[in-house]
Amino acid sequence: MAKVAGEKLLSEAVQERRATRSFEQVPIHSADLKKILESGLTAPSAYNLQPWRFVVVREREHKKRLRAAAFNQAKIEEASAVIVACGDPQGWKEGDLDEVARIGKQHGFDNEQKIEKNRLEVASLLGGTPGKTGGIGPSVAVWINRHVMIACTTMMWTAETLGYDTAPMEGFEEDKVRVALNIPEHVRVVALLAIGRRKGPDKPFAGRFPSSRTVFADEWGKGMEF
Ligand SMILES: Cc1cc2nc3c(=O)[nH]c(=O)nc-3n(C[C@H](O)[C@H](O)[C@H](O)COP(=O)(O)O)c2cc1C
Repeated sequence: MAKVAGEKLLSEAVQERRATRSFEQVPIHSADLKKILESGLTAPSAYNLQPWRFVVVREREHKKRLRAAAFNQAKIEEASAVIVACGDPQGWKEGDLDEVARIGKQHGFDNEQKIEKNRLEVASLLGGTPGKTGGIGPSVAVWINRHVMIACTTMMWTAETLGYDTAPMEGFEEDKVRVALNIPEHVRVVALLAIGRRKGPDKPFAGRFPSSRTVFADEWGKGMEF
C-alpha cells in the first residue's frame, strides 16, 4: 500500500527514532492521538485480558503535577501529550473477565466451555496461592508490566510512524504519580510516554550491542549466524 504523505514506514521509524529530549509546545491533532491510543488497545494480551489502563495528560495543570512526580523532567510539560501507562492487577476480578467473554461472543470467537475454562485458568494464575495453586503471587507486577509495555510500545511506534517524536520514561515516583492524577492505589504505574514535535536536533544515536552479545541460536550462549 502506498504510504500516506507525512507518514513513515515502520522500518523507517525504527531506524530513525530517538528518545526525544525536548519538545515544541504544540497541541497534538486529536485524530492522531486517537489513532495512537487505539493502536495500543489492539495489542495482544494473555486471555485477551487487556489489564492496561492509560491516563492521557494534556492539560497544563496536570502536566505540571506530573512533572513534579517525575523528577522535574521538563519534557513532560513541553510534550503535546503524555500517556501514563498503567496496569490494573484487579481488573480481572472486577468485571474484565465478563467483558472479555461478552466481546469475544460478540465477535463469534468464544463458546461457553472455552469461556469457563479461561475463567478458571485466570483465577488460578492471578488469584491462586503462589506456588500452590499455580498463582503467580508477587510476580503479578511482572505480568502487568509485560502487558502494559506491549500496548505502550505499540503506541510509541504508531506515533513515530505518524511523524511525531516520542520519549518513553521510567523516571517517576509511582506514589506521587498516583496522587497527582487520582490513580487508585492498587493500580501500577508502569511507564510514561511523551509525544510531540521535537525541539532542535535529535540527540545522536548512542549505538547498540552487537547481536553476538544479545542473540543466541537455539540455546543460550550459542552464536547466531545471519
Ligand atoms: C523504559 C524506558 C524508560 C526510560 N526512562 C527515561 C527517563 O525517565 N528519562 C529520560 O530522559 N529518558 C528515558 N529513557 C530513554 C533512554 O535513555 C533512551 O531510550 C536510551 O538512552 C537510548 O536512546 P535512544 O532511545 O534515543 O536510542 C527511557 C527509555 C525506556 C525504554
